[in-house]
Amino acid sequence: MTGTVVTHTPAVARLRDIALACGRAAALRAAVELSVAEALGDTPTNLIDLATLVGAPPETLARLLRALMCHGVFAQDDDGCYVHTEESRLLREDEPGSIKYIVLWSTEPWTWELWPHLADAIRTGDTVFTALHGKDFFPYLHSAAPESAAVMDRAMMQSSTMSVQAIVDSLDLSGARSVADVAGGRGHVLAALLERHPGLNGTLVDLPNALRNVDERLRAGGALAARATVIPADARADIPPGKDVYLLKSILDWDDESTVKTLRNVVRAAGPGARVYLVENLIDESFQPKFSTTMDLLLLLNVGGGKHTLEGLTELIRRAGLRVDATRPVDAYLHLVACTVPAPAAE
Ligand SMILES: C[S@@+](CC[C@H](N)C(=O)[O-])C[C@H]1O[C@@H](n2cnc3c(N)ncnc32)[C@H](O)[C@@H]1O
Repeated sequence: MTGTVVTHTPAVARLRDIALACGRAAALRAAVELSVAEALGDTPTNLIDLATLVGAPPETLARLLRALMCHGVFAQDDDGCYVHTEESRLLREDEPGSIKYIVLWSTEPWTWELWPHLADAIRTGDTVFTALHGKDFFPYLHSAAPESAAVMDRAMMQSSTMSVQAIVDSLDLSGARSVADVAGGRGHVLAALLERHPGLNGTLVDLPNALRNVDERLRAGGALAARATVIPADARADIPPGKDVYLLKSILDWDDESTVKTLRNVVRAAGPGARVYLVENLIDESFQPKFSTTMDLLLLLNVGGGKHTLEGLTELIRRAGLRVDATRPVDAYLHLVACTVPAPAAE
């Protein structure tokens, strides 16, 4: 018999791996949902004990762990007991630097509904979320999927916790008496800025439902409450006027029209000379291109937006009437684009 023997080249292996990547994400999510990382302490634990702790049959738990161990998440010692790796530890809620909620946020149930529509979104350039759910993404999240909104809050908090000191270090607030954090979520970045700068007053702006869980330091009775104001508003329509500094972090990857509208609102609300700091994960400057390029596609699906290149974001900033003064990395994930509201052109 003659015929061609198909060899399994590294390229074939890579493509097969990519084709089943959703299974890897599902395995990671399942481990988080089963709290495997919390159940496994510092002592190596055998399968039967671990299965009892997580409430799953040993056979299926072993299969889940085998799939994850291929990627360095959990390991086995010489006796076959399970132990943590650096990766699996980060799934523990109590681990400093934990990314448990970032894993959940990246694999929320709505993400699995959206991915099969990617070819349509690529063809049309439009979000498919609104067509599927009858509402834009953020209003849907805050009204119809409050558990998912809570996961987003915690994911943003974990993400900001990783970056918050670097952000606070990178913003020049010299001479500023007031700052507004626009779409600032629970306000943990604003709280860190107020802690660093005792003479500063801060305003937190976000959608009404997003402000139900504001950082306790900013709430009535909180340590920073006397210097904090919380304003429920749609940033595309309403920006608090007259602040010295406006911060917008991880919000401008929605559709371009919303970005330009929001930045124009900032220009109108702020006086000439006000500083506007944009902090974003930029796709061309990212040190984590596998994460950023995939997140770019998810953003197309859910908000009809995407990750910006530095050039693309700069173009939108200029269209909105802001002057770009400087750009620099904040950390391995985020970039700062520092802008100023220019004086109005002479008639
Ligand atoms: C990705 S999160 C970033 C939160 C925060 N800036 C951070 O980096 O931790 C996006 C935030 O934008 C808020 N948001 C979405 N649409 C908005 C709108 N039209 N007006 C004001 N805030 C909005 C969401 O509620 C959410 O808190």
